[in-house]
Amino acid sequence: MNPGGIGLNRTMPFSLASKTALVTGAGSGIGQAIALTFARAGAFVWAADVNEEAARTTVALIREAGGQADALKLDVTRDADFVAALERVPVVDVLVANAGIGHVGTLLTTSVADFERLLSVNVVGVLRTLKTWMPGMVERKRGSVVVTGSTAGLEGLVDRFAYTASKHAVVGMMRCAALDHATTGVRVNAVCPGRVETPFVKARLREYPDPAAAYREMASTQAQRRMGTPEEVANAALFLASDEASFVTGAALAVDGGWTAGMFPQQ
Ligand SMILES: NC(=O)c1ccc[n+]([C@@H]2O[C@H](COP(=O)([O-])OP(=O)(O)OC[C@H]3O[C@@H](n4cnc5c(N)ncnc54)[C@H](O)[C@@H]3O)[C@@H](O)[C@H]2O)c1
Repeated sequence: MNPGGIGLNRTMPFSLASKTALVTGAGSGIGQAIALTFARAGAFVWAADVNEEAARTTVALIREAGGQADALKLDVTRDADFVAALERVPVVDVLVANAGIGHVGTLLTTSVADFERLLSVNVVGVLRTLKTWMPGMVERKRGSVVVTGSTAGLEGLVDRFAYTASKHAVVGMMRCAALDHATTGVRVNAVCPGRVETPFVKARLREYPDPAAAYREMASTQAQRRMGTPEEVANAALFLASDEASFVTGAALAVDGGWTAGMFPQQ
């Protein structure tokens, strides 16, 4: 019997042992799954979130599972929070700029105020996150940055004008940061999730008169005809964050059940 496979005896395919990771928006959904997955892979995880209680919950889950983590109150729209965060966490090996919010609307129904609010979290928040910890990585000549994009960063989406603009900006920033620092030992990549069944999405589904039909409708944009799980996105982020992805930089990795692969018959 060789339960670990041919000559292998590892439970995790990718290791972040002895690395310090910081994840924004770690209090919920995809960010929480990334924090847990990275801790399981051996990283010390700083769970950062505007909602400090939610960040603490993530830390408790990690500690219960035997991992190492601490919580950080961080509103990505506040410069002062970043100053305090950098003082507390000066060295980060793996940085995940994940905090983001959604918005529904077309060009005509999206106000300038709403557009600016969305960009201040989804775009300027990512900029602040990278500008806070990437200089140290460049100085130390090592580090891996993962940003959470979206399929909305790869193609246009109906009724998601501001959100799509924000995620295209995130993917653009990721590509430029990767190019500008490609020879420094610092890599920058994106995970681009399709529809993911986070607790928030699950709660919304329960509000429909026919939750199963609502699920089918939301899942129908994906060729696999299902939504992804936060853990599936976290596994892709783990690969990008790990040293096994040492020749991967500037990549926007679609984790979307085939949504952006091309045309497929709609049901
Ligand atoms: N869920 C999906 O289907 C999906 C698909 C594609 C991309 N995404 C992206 O994934 C990321 C995470 O989304 P999610 O679905 O897990 O959302 P979520 O709402 O479950 O979690 C987002 C977390 O970010 C935190 N946050 C919000 N504003 C913040 C701020 N100003 N500063 C710091 N933290 C803040 C929230 O408190 C929350 O804990 C987002 O960037 C989102 O755009 C989600």
